[in-house]
Amino acid sequence: MDHLLPPDIVEAGHSFPAELAACGDLDALLRLKGAYVGREGSHAARLMELLKLAPKEQKRDLGAAINALKQQWEEGLKSRQFEIETKKKNRKALAASWDPSLPPPVPAQGALNPLNRLMDRLVEVFRPLGFHVEEGPEIETEAHNFDGLNIPEDHPAKASSDTFYLAAHPDLLLRTHTSPVQVRTLLRVAQDLGIRGGVRFLSPGRVYRKDEIDPTHSPMFHQVEGMLVGHGIGMQHLKGTLEYALRALFGPHTEIRLRPSYFPFVEPGCEVDVSCPLCAARGCRVCKGSGWVEILGAGLIHPKVLEYAGIDPVEWSGWAFGMGVERMAMMLSQTPDLRLFFENDQRFLKAMGGLD
Ligand code: DAH
Repeated sequence: MDHLLPPDIVEAGHSFPAELAACGDLDALLRLKGAYVGREGSHAARLMELLKLAPKEQKRDLGAAINALKQQWEEGLKSRQFEIETKKKNRKALAASWDPSLPPPVPAQGALNPLNRLMDRLVEVFRPLGFHVEEGPEIETEAHNFDGLNIPEDHPAKASSDTFYLAAHPDLLLRTHTSPVQVRTLLRVAQDLGIRGGVRFLSPGRVYRKDEIDPTHSPMFHQVEGMLVGHGIGMQHLKGTLEYALRALFGPHTEIRLRPSYFPFVEPGCEVDVSCPLCAARGCRVCKGSGWVEILGAGLIHPKVLEYAGIDPVEWSGWAFGMGVERMAMMLSQTPDLRLFFENDQRFLKAMGGLD
């Protein structure tokens, strides 16, 4: 029906929405209103004149077109007016509520991830016993990750289906446990310093295995390794130290239990359970009704591991352990899905404030 209207008004109809959006205040809006629907000289007024002069047979169609246009303009003007007034009101309310004597808002502060906090706590538990922190690289040699730990050539952990090897350097891999830090530390201590006062360290860090990600598995996770080498060290020292450390972590009434197990780098080897800290060993979902939860692997250092580093296994002996950090953090915080620790969901991380 546009052909019945003067071209400049058709044009105006097209540019109306943009002009409306450009009105930043009520004055500008009033001017636009005057130009489009004002009593005199406006587009609408001109259209009414036109309608009066139109031949009878055009009046119906022309009238309908004019009404549609006017209605569109009036509605647009009304809703823009509402928007401008609301904005103004909000601004006023904000200004009235602003108290310049109040201190500025505190910017959001970050915090350590719960896994790091748990590892820090373990380090603090062992520090008074003379343990310091040793670090090792996440990209390791096969020698440190396997050979120096008496892990045989045909061990399943060495398979490329279990371990991430570096394509360009087939003898390099992402370490599958923190145990290679044992090899590095023994080699360094034996070669550079002489072993003298023995070795005591804790080594927290990331490790990698080819696992599909699910609520209890991740191709990247954390372990804490512990090692002590000295004169006449036996199982009793391992048990006593772990009892002290695990009671510091889980509470003074915690009991521990050693079960025989096999790891190539210890002899004898064991798995260590703690009495379930969540149900005081009465039996619950976390301990699957048994009252015990498996916490770490440990044992007396295999003579081959000491020999590899050039340390005499007749003169020196020691123990080592390795524990999984996610498992422990999940248990302590009753988190059912370990992915939550890596996803940076602030709601979860805030709720984890109570972990330590
Ligand atoms: N490295 C072992 C693992 O990843 C854990 C472990 C077991 C570490 C016994 C030790 C140990 O130091 O003595 O499964």
